[in-house]
Amino acid sequence: MSEKLLSEEEDVKKAEELISSIGIPTQPSLLLEINKKISRPDAGFGDLTDLISRDVAMSAKLLKIANSVFFGLREKVDSIQRALSLIGLKNFNRIILATSLRESIGGHGSSTEKFWNHSMTVAGASAHIAGRVGFESEEQAYIAGLFHDCGVALLMKKYQDYHQILDYSLSVASSVSLSGIKKSIIGIEEERYNTHHCAVGYLITKTWRLPLSVAQSVWHHHYINIDIHADPVTRRLSAILLLADYIGGHILYLGGSNCAVENETEWVRMHKKAAAELAVNAESVKDMRDDLVEKLYG
Ligand SMILES: [Fe+2]
Ligand SMILES: [Fe+2]
Repeated sequence: MSEKLLSEEEDVKKAEELISSIGIPTQPSLLLEINKKISRPDAGFGDLTDLISRDVAMSAKLLKIANSVFFGLREKVDSIQRALSLIGLKNFNRIILATSLRESIGGHGSSTEKFWNHSMTVAGASAHIAGRVGFESEEQAYIAGLFHDCGVALLMKKYQDYHQILDYSLSVASSVSLSGIKKSIIGIEEERYNTHHCAVGYLITKTWRLPLSVAQSVWHHHYINIDIHADPVTRRLSAILLLADYIGGHILYLGGSNCAVENETEWVRMHKKAAAELAVNAESVKDMRDDLVEKLYG
């Protein structure tokens, strides 16, 4: 067995030990059924309406979203079918997945908010980039972005001092570790907690039965070398996630000191393989970033 595989097995074992002490958040079974229905090519509102109507909590959640200020309607929406057609299947899937993950993981406070802002922005950025580079599934890219840092939430739950390094796990910056050596966030987390948020996140994606390409790209989202993925879809998804993490980080920390990569030219210089995989250059990356800023704040 190769050295790489051995260390991965070890990483999973350590992450499992941490998770067993706090409990892994599980995917609600209704969500699994919804996902199965939505991913069918002939997916329609009919089957989904029946499924949602049988669950009071999910029905209430859906009606609340449809009646939120976001839709600004004069008339109150009180039927599941109308709510679904208003929100659309794609948005519905994204909203339900994000709220279910949030409820399963729990947590509160400013660090938790910071973490969720980052996750939601990177999810949106991933889907946007996927559309721009013609990746086969915008949904898969959205899910990878949404889950990529979910291990952070569990580490925050378990360790009260985690907020001290939160800015580093949400960016690609390296920092000084306990031993005084400059290390990546993975090295720092291993030194402090004997595991890291990428391995913990990987286990959560496996428990939620997400596609293997999503699980693998979550695991390696702090690795610049995307060639470790033999599967072309996973390699491409990892490149998208690396770029989305940069763009997402840059949008949230605009003008702040937390962005390790200062601009698009530097990102492309540092991420040659990912840039080549997506056929992007500094100009097109800047273009994507400007588009997203416009979409979010324009
Ligand atoms: Fe991360
Ligand atoms: Fe991130």
